[in-house]
Amino acid sequence: MIEEHDVLVVGAGCAGMRAAIEAFDAGADVAMISKLHPTRSHSGAAEGGINAALGNAAEDSPESHAYDTVKGSDYLGDQDSIEIFTREAPDDIIQLENWGAFFSRQPDGRLAQRPFGAAGSPRTIYAADITGHVLIQVLYEQVCKRDIKVYEEFFAWQLVVNDGRCQGVICWDLLNGGLKTLGGKTVVLATGGAGRQYRVTTNAYACTGDGTAMALRAGVPLKDMEFMQFHPTTLYPTGILLTEGCRGEGAYLLNKDGERFMKKYAPNALELASRDVVSRSEQTEIDAGRGINGSVMLDMRHLGAERIIERLPGSRELSMVFAGVDPIYEPVPVRPGAHYHMGGIETDTDGATELTGLYAAGECACVSVHGANRLGGNSLMETITFGRRSGRAAAEWALSNTTIDVPESLERDAERELKDLLDRGSGERPWKIRDELGTSMLENFAVFRRGEQMQRQLEIIPELRERYRKVYVEDKGNVFNSDLTQAIELGNMLDTAWCMLEAGIARKESRGAHARPYDYPTRDDVNFLKHSIVRWKDDAPELSWAEVRMTKWQPEERKY
Ligand code: FUM
Repeated sequence: MIEEHDVLVVGAGCAGMRAAIEAFDAGADVAMISKLHPTRSHSGAAEGGINAALGNAAEDSPESHAYDTVKGSDYLGDQDSIEIFTREAPDDIIQLENWGAFFSRQPDGRLAQRPFGAAGSPRTIYAADITGHVLIQVLYEQVCKRDIKVYEEFFAWQLVVNDGRCQGVICWDLLNGGLKTLGGKTVVLATGGAGRQYRVTTNAYACTGDGTAMALRAGVPLKDMEFMQFHPTTLYPTGILLTEGCRGEGAYLLNKDGERFMKKYAPNALELASRDVVSRSEQTEIDAGRGINGSVMLDMRHLGAERIIERLPGSRELSMVFAGVDPIYEPVPVRPGAHYHMGGIETDTDGATELTGLYAAGECACVSVHGANRLGGNSLMETITFGRRSGRAAAEWALSNTTIDVPESLERDAERELKDLLDRGSGERPWKIRDELGTSMLENFAVFRRGEQMQRQLEIIPELRERYRKVYVEDKGNVFNSDLTQAIELGNMLDTAWCMLEAGIARKESRGAHARPYDYPTRDDVNFLKHSIVRWKDDAPELSWAEVRMTKWQPEERKY
């Protein structure tokens, strides 16, 4: 073991940094572990904004924010978590602003707020369309100010579980090679999503479900894994995100005939219906042959050059660089792409998991604020509010418990496993299996889900896992061995994808992002107003169900 800390935070995006700052401020000796430099974390790709009921642009309240979030979640979100979230969000925004986040402002000087999908009020605070980028700079500045130790370019591989509690993390040192074990009285997982399970995704290459898979293998339950959100506007062909802020500012969606098709599907909310609704509408148009090259068009021309340049400069640049289209003059081709995992490591409202000493926050966690469908702008807010709460809880537990014990046998087992992988002299290359996973997930478990396709995918994943057992890592070196880390990431994606399929097949209804129009077209609150729970048992997922925590909102039909 190389070092011990009170609190180890794995992941250095918005949730991880916010957790680390809070744990430090609570008096803990805290360190972060990250496979990337913190400011390169995927949180930096979040564009359009962050939701809190400040009421600057129109009347608003935490209660309205909570109602919209519950309704958006298709009633699967845990309402106690949602109420905490919407109540604490405004103060968290003010804290970020005080730390120097340069949010866009109204003419009267207060923070500007733009409309986002399925929100009853313009609630999304933003910094043009680079909000995530601004937040990670601000948070990193606070991390540096506190001199919080960052084990940078350390790839977290396995949790240390001893004596019934989590006591550290076994990592691969990307720069120097070799396994390094870090001891922690508590560990906060904040490793983000796993969108790379899909061939078309807004997610960075690093989003491979590492923390989720580590927790799963350590016996921790995962919740609502079937719910992968498809963002309606990802750039064709790369899948790069074009923010919902474009539609918030007034952009239209058109089919190949120039028809503003959302009028048919959501006559009131139009392009600002919830993401599941908009993605399904687009996919219906595309499947009916009314798309262009498997895309629809996002038209911003009527917004005018000045507004596009002021409010959406990043979207304009991405469109020009990656699609060769300037949105001031031409519509941009977009299609649904895998964006955000609503499911994840089951936690309580302080980020605590079932395993003593282990906490989780941000996209890898399921607290569950988003239920079956997340509202745009709620994820950045979740990283901050629940990052903070998890950091505080992890620090308090660590400061009242003193010992760390990492048995040498655990480190030796990990060394042996790694040696087996690296000693292999031939076999299939990981990228091939990764490609097949991405293509088949997109084909069989995307916007619309058919029973027979899901069943096929449920057979494909164990087949890919079988091939993965014999995977060949060609690079045997120690320095930046991305061949090795990509092989490990692939194992994480395969195991978590299996959990998604297991839960998806069992959920015989359509709810939020889980749409089964051909066999179970409606929401079934009698049988499925419940969370799926997956545990890892005998090297396979095992499914059970848990109650949704309701406070004051009973399920209603969602109309947009
Ligand atoms: O569209 C966007 O800017 C993405 C925001 C989000 O996923 O919350």
